[in-house]
Amino acid sequence: MAPDLFSVEDKIAVVTGGLGQLGRQFALALVDRGARVAVFDVRTDEALVTAHYGDRAGDAGLMFCEVDVTERASLERGLAAVVGTWGVPHILVNNAGLDSPPNAPAAENGPFESYPLSSLRKVLDINLSGVVLCCQVIGGAMAEAGRGSVINISSIYGLVSPDQRLYTYRTQEGGGPFFKPVAYAVSKSGLLNLTRYLATYWAGKGVRVNTLTFGGVFNHQDAQFLQNYAARAPLGRMAREDEYNGAVIFLAADASSYMTGANMVLDGGWTAW
Ligand SMILES: NC(=O)c1ccc[n+]([C@@H]2O[C@H](COP(=O)([O-])OP(=O)(O)OC[C@H]3O[C@@H](n4cnc5c(N)ncnc54)[C@H](O)[C@@H]3O)[C@@H](O)[C@H]2O)c1
Repeated sequence: MAPDLFSVEDKIAVVTGGLGQLGRQFALALVDRGARVAVFDVRTDEALVTAHYGDRAGDAGLMFCEVDVTERASLERGLAAVVGTWGVPHILVNNAGLDSPPNAPAAENGPFESYPLSSLRKVLDINLSGVVLCCQVIGGAMAEAGRGSVINISSIYGLVSPDQRLYTYRTQEGGGPFFKPVAYAVSKSGLLNLTRYLATYWAGKGVRVNTLTFGGVFNHQDAQFLQNYAARAPLGRMAREDEYNGAVIFLAADASSYMTGANMVLDGGWTAW
């Protein structure tokens, strides 16, 4: 029997933002294939974990750590919990992210010229500085152990500009001009070169670093948005929330052993035309 190139059996993984829509998918995809997964998220009280994971919350291969990726001390506590329970992680999925902050002021979706700098800083803090910190703390431990795979989660909006035509209907609906803001886009494009930087920095330490670039995921968006997105996407639809699991497993496993510093694009063809 040939060895399973895609095996993640007995690997230890950290998935940041693991209580979110995609983080939950990645955590369970890894656990279902024999990995042990520490979910890092800002809040991991029991009610919240149960709401997101249901019966799976009690899986032996899962642990939940209250960690803020923007705080080094918080990350160090999270890492210590994982190391104390299972050992040094082999896999880090930098998935935690923020699009527009909740309760965003109207200016947030207004013209670029008046986009609040405070909003830019908040998004960069989580999406870019947070990933840098996760790489310093968890990636650093992996480098010391001499092995590991870091997977940075980016977006089509980090590769190309948001297509503002998708959103013009919102302007027409009233309430002032609506634009997809700049912060998310620039934070996600920053990950592409962070990936290349760390891939070369850690190449001699056995830690591979790659980016996954995703297209939009269906999450009950409003009908007009879904129609506009589908018309713009070559595959004619948004992704299902489970359609990126295969890429995470591939990058976590030995199947991708010669891949580092790369960007793998799963976007239904969005950037192909
Ligand atoms: N959903 C999409 O359409 C889509 C498309 C492309 C890329 N992505 C990327 O995929 C990743 C996951 O997206 P999602 O849609 O599942 O988002 P989500 O909002 O459902 O989940 C994000 C999670 O990150 C957590 N988080 C936020 N700030 C944090 C912090 N400081 N410390 C720890 N955790 C924090 C949140 O609590 C949440 O559980 C993000 O990086 C996102 O940019 C998503």
